[in-house]
Amino acid sequence: MSRNKLDVTIGNVNEVYDGPGGILWEMLMGDQIHVGGSEETGILAGKAGIDPDSHVLDVCSALGGPARHLVQTYGCRVTGLDATRRMHEEAIRRTKEAGLDGRIEYRLGNALDMPFPANTFDVVWGQDAWCYITDKKRLVEECARVLKPGGVLAFTDWLETGPMTEDEWLALNTFMVFPYMETLEGYAALCESAGLNVAEKEDLSTDFAGNIQMYLEKLQNDLRQGVIDNYGLEMYDEVERGITLWRDASAAGKVGRGRILARK
Ligand SMILES: C[S@@+](CC[C@H](N)C(=O)[O-])C[C@H]1O[C@@H](n2cnc3c(N)ncnc32)[C@H](O)[C@@H]1O
Repeated sequence: MSRNKLDVTIGNVNEVYDGPGGILWEMLMGDQIHVGGSEETGILAGKAGIDPDSHVLDVCSALGGPARHLVQTYGCRVTGLDATRRMHEEAIRRTKEAGLDGRIEYRLGNALDMPFPANTFDVVWGQDAWCYITDKKRLVEECARVLKPGGVLAFTDWLETGPMTEDEWLALNTFMVFPYMETLEGYAALCESAGLNVAEKEDLSTDFAGNIQMYLEKLQNDLRQGVIDNYGLEMYDEVERGITLWRDASAAGKVGRGRILARK
């Protein structure tokens, strides 16, 4: 990456997910706050080989939607790690309510300094969240450290996929509160340099562009009045402007999304 990174701290990310940002993303995407919902979780789980014996670490587990889906579908055990208190507490509450607290544990903490010993998990997992993290090298090294030998790192993330102007780069990352986005090749290189073998890397950008268009239409049609009533017209306009930027950039092949599987 030749560009600089924006100065995004964990405090900035907490502000998003403790505040209206987290609620808005849930309104757009559901309690699995990533592109593709439970269908995407199923694809990633199949590729990672999750079964009833698996202990999965979900890095940036947010509301715990994917953790509950994994436990209900595959009978595995999940530990969720997230740094935002509202997400952490909400995940615990919803998981108790679903009667799944015996198989899911949540920890409040930073993915750059994971509160787990080395060689703990069969699968280390992430969905559309690592774009918030500045030091992705350290993040992937932490993932590799806590994976058991033979274990699988399985994740999706939002990516930079094509050339863009400095102004576009700044506007896209600023709206999302991302320090920068990795490329698919960049992530593969980070995995390899952390001692993992990349088994699969897939560019999902066409599907991503379709989803961003769908979120924009959902905002403009179903959610418009609710967002204005709760947060005001200025906030609605800001969100619509930002998602339109992302819709245009994804349709032009400048930003996208990818899926990576790597083995320790
Ligand atoms: C898009 S949401 C994640 C969605 C979740 N993976 C899912 O599929 O439902 C982003 C989450 O990442 C968390 N996060 C961002 N940076 C983090 C970090 N350094 N350590 C732990 N959590 C972090 C935020 O608190 C937020 O809950």
